[in-house]
Amino acid sequence: MQDRLKLLQKLAGLTDEEVVTLGNTGGLPSDIANRMIENVVGGMTLPLGMATNFLVNGKDYVVPMALEEPSVVAAASNAAKIARVKGGFKVTNTGPVMIGQIQTVGVPDPNGAAKKIAAKKKELLAKANEQDPMLVSLGGGAKDLNVKVIETIKGPMVIVELFVNCGDAMGANAVNTMAEAVAPMVEEISAGRVYLRIISNLADKRLVRATAVFDKEALGGEEVVEGIVYAYAFADADPYRCATHNKGIMNGVIAVALACGQDTRALEAGAHSYAARSGAYKPLTTWKENKDRDLVGTLEMPMAVGLVGGAAKVHPAAKANVKILGLKSAIELAEVMGAVGLAQNFAALRALASEGIQKGHMKLHARSLAMSAGAKGEQVDVIAEKMIAEKKIRFDRAKDLVEEISKKR
Ligand code: MEV
Repeated sequence: MQDRLKLLQKLAGLTDEEVVTLGNTGGLPSDIANRMIENVVGGMTLPLGMATNFLVNGKDYVVPMALEEPSVVAAASNAAKIARVKGGFKVTNTGPVMIGQIQTVGVPDPNGAAKKIAAKKKELLAKANEQDPMLVSLGGGAKDLNVKVIETIKGPMVIVELFVNCGDAMGANAVNTMAEAVAPMVEEISAGRVYLRIISNLADKRLVRATAVFDKEALGGEEVVEGIVYAYAFADADPYRCATHNKGIMNGVIAVALACGQDTRALEAGAHSYAARSGAYKPLTTWKENKDRDLVGTLEMPMAVGLVGGAAKVHPAAKANVKILGLKSAIELAEVMGAVGLAQNFAALRALASEGIQKGHMKLHARSLAMSAGAKGEQVDVIAEKMIAEKKIRFDRAKDLVEEISKKR
C-alpha cells in the first residue's frame, strides 16, 4: 500500500498531508482493506450516524447510517418518531430467495428443450445443491427452477432460472457457483451452448413489505396528509418525479446498507428494476389516507442483504453496526431497511408538501459551506449561524467570514 501511495504521490503531485489522508483506513485495518479489493492505497471514510426512534415489528432499533448527505439521519429519526404514535413499522418478507440465470443459445428446438430441461428439474436441483452442503444443511439451497424461451435480437434463447434460498447470505457466490455447476447439464439436455451463468439482481423473490400509519396531527395536519398523497400521485404519473421519489427512499436504504457492509449496487439495481417491472417506472411506495384521515404508507421492494460471506462479516465497523442493530438474521436486516426506506420517503414528502426541503437543509448546508471555505472546529458553527442570520448562505460569504475570523486572531 505504501509503495502504491508513493507512486501515486509522484504521479498526481500529492502533498504529504494528502498522502496521509488517503492512506488512513480508519476503522478498517489496512491489511483487511488491502485484501478486500485490488490496488488498495487507503480508505475512504464517510460519516456514520445513528437514526433513532425506530420501532419495527414491535422491536426498538438504533439504526446505523453511513452517508455524505446532511439531513437524512435527522429526517429518518423524525419520521420514525411520528410512526411510533400509531405503533411503528410493520414489515413482512417473502424469504431470502435469489434467482440464478443460465443463458442457452443456438438451441435447435427451444420449446422442446425447455420441456426437457423442466423434466430434469430434480437432477438439476440436486447438482446445484451439491455445491453448497452447508447452505442446504441450514435449510437453504436451490428449491425450484423455471425455464423460459425468450426472443432476442440474436434469436431465441432458453433461459434456465434457479430459485435459491440463500438463508443469511446475500447469495451471489452461492447462486453463481450453482449456475456454473448445472450449465454443462443444461447444454447436454438442450443441445445448445451456455454463455452467461449469473445471479439476477431483480430479486423479486426476496421482497420486503413495510407499512406504517402516520398520525395526521403528529405529522402536521390534514393538509400535509393531502399534500403527501398528491406527491405520490405525481410520482406515480411521471418518471421524472418518480426517479427522485425513489432516490429519497434509497437515501435511507443505502445508508444502512453501507453501514452494514452490504452490496449497495445490487440493492440499487434491484430497486430500480423492480420499480420498472410493469414496463413503466413506478414509485416503490404508496401513500393514502385511511378512514381516520391518518396517512398510510407502504413500501415494497427487493432487499438482497446478507450477514454471512460478505463485508458484513469482514469489515470491523460493519460488524459493530450489525451488533448495534442486534440482528438475528439477514431477513431482520432487510426488514429494518424496508422501514428506513419508508421513513425516509415519508420525511422527504412531508417536507416537500409543507415547508419545502431547503429550510431543514439550510443549517447543515451552511455548515458544509463553512467547512469547505476552510473553517475548523467551533468556527464552523459560528460561521454557519452568521450566514443563516444574514440570509446569505453562500460560499463567497463563508470565505469572507473565515478570513475575518483569522484576521481577528
Ligand atoms: C434528496 O436527497 C431526496 C429528495 O429529493 C427526495 C424527494 O424529492 O422525494 C428530497
